Amino acid sequence: MELREVMRTTAAIRAFTDEPVGDDRLARVLEAARFAPSGGNRQPWRVVVVTEPGLRAEIARCYQLSWREYTAHLAAGLVPFAPDETGRWEGPAVDLEAARATPAPNDFADNLASVPVMLVVFAHLPSLAVLDNGLRRQSIVGGGSIYPFTHNILLAARNEGLGGVMTTVICRQEDKMRELLGASPSLALAGLVALGVPVHQPTRLRRRQVAEFTTRERLDGPAFGP
Ligand SMILES: Cc1cc2nc3c(=O)[nH]c(=O)nc-3n(C[C@H](O)[C@H](O)[C@H](O)COP(=O)(O)O)c2cc1C
Repeated sequence: MELREVMRTTAAIRAFTDEPVGDDRLARVLEAARFAPSGGNRQPWRVVVVTEPGLRAEIARCYQLSWREYTAHLAAGLVPFAPDETGRWEGPAVDLEAARATPAPNDFADNLASVPVMLVVFAHLPSLAVLDNGLRRQSIVGGGSIYPFTHNILLAARNEGLGGVMTTVICRQEDKMRELLGASPSLALAGLVALGVPVHQPTRLRRRQVAEFTTRERLDGPAFGP
């Protein structure tokens, strides 16, 4: 596919046909994705391809628990786990235990155990130069060394006629996921990428116009963009 077309049409795909992905196709996706940039080119990503049914069911359960925490925030009109206006997170804004005990039906979460491919992506923390550490606000820089890689997976998948979604809801269950997959504490759970052949491939994504988020010279400068 043409690059511009791939960039403009790589939607979050959460529903897949039964068609298997195949190791060759998956290997081509990862082979392309590995060219992602990272701080100092330290390439902190570690990927686990999960196909074993029992493990997939356990992972789906982790996702569902986290999903419940997520939706409890939405029900309260909150951005889940968002920092406040000072850029800090002062603790849970909802009762997380009660949330985990409250079912939150969701097609993707409920069918996660049967997605064609699960890629669990970890980030090797000691490899991250986190330049905004200690700024007394939510740190954001570390993720920049891992999420270009996960997005490359989605772009490469699109090029292969596949689709998928990068999810972070599951990161709430990091301890359990480490235990399930044999990850050491030096590995942070960065996300779970689900991949498969899309049931439907959207071609028009809803995104803000450039001029809505770009200004000249200063944030209060004139809008820039077509
Ligand atoms: C950092 C990040 C975390 C995300 N976490 C989840 C998630 O946990 N579950 C999920 O279903 N989608 C998740 N998504 C997918 C977004 O919801 C999706 O990219 C966005 O809504 C745009 O969807 P669209 O491309 O179909 O328009 C995540 C995306 C990103 C970039």
